[in-house]
Amino acid sequence: MERSLIIFKPDAVLRGIIGEIITRFERAGFKIIAMKMLQPSYDDLFTHYEGIGTLKTRKGDEIFESQLASMQDGPVIAMVLEGVEAVETIRKMVGATEPKSAAPGTIRGDYAHVTYGAAASVGRGVANIIHASADLSEAKKEISHWFSDSELHTYDTVHQPFTQPRKK
Ligand code: CDP
Ligand code: MG
Repeated sequence: MERSLIIFKPDAVLRGIIGEIITRFERAGFKIIAMKMLQPSYDDLFTHYEGIGTLKTRKGDEIFESQLASMQDGPVIAMVLEGVEAVETIRKMVGATEPKSAAPGTIRGDYAHVTYGAAASVGRGVANIIHASADLSEAKKEISHWFSDSELHTYDTVHQPFTQPRKK
C-alpha cells in the first residue's frame, strides 16, 4: 500500500468545503490514517515547498513567497491517506495545479476556476484548495515532515477484504 500527504489549504478550510472533499477520498476507498489541524510556521512551509517540493528553485522567489504567505491565511488540515497506488490516483483526483486548467470532475476543477495570472496580480499563491504529494519519494518526505510515527494509525477498513486474498 502507498501513502500520500494531503493538505487542505486555508482557502478550503475558510470556505468550509473540507467535508465534501474528504467524502470524495472516503468514497474512493482511501483510508485516512492521520489528520490534524495546524497553523503552519514559515519554516515548516519552507521545508515543505522548497526543501522537499523545490518550488522556489522551479518558480522563483516571488511565486514562492506569495505561496508561503497564502498558506498562512488561516489554519490548514494535514492528512495522510493510504491505498493502492495512492499517490498517482490522488493526484488524478486533485487535478492540474492551475484551477483554470484543472478538468471538471477533479477537486481543483470543481471547486475553483482562477488563474496563475489573477493570483500573481494580487500577490497571492493560486488558491487551488488542496496539496497532494506529487510522487512516492515526495510523499515519504512530506509524511515524515508533518507527522510523527505515533500519529500514523493502523486499523482495518471494510474495503480491505477486496484487496486481500480470499479467506479459505
Ligand atoms: O501543488 P502542485 O504540486 O500541483 O504544484 P507545484 O508546482 O508544486 O506548486 C505548489 C503550489 O504553489 C501550487 O499548488 C500553487 O498553490 C502555488 N503556485 C502558484 O501559486 N503559482 C504558480 N505559478 C505555481 C505554483
Ligand atoms: Mg508540488
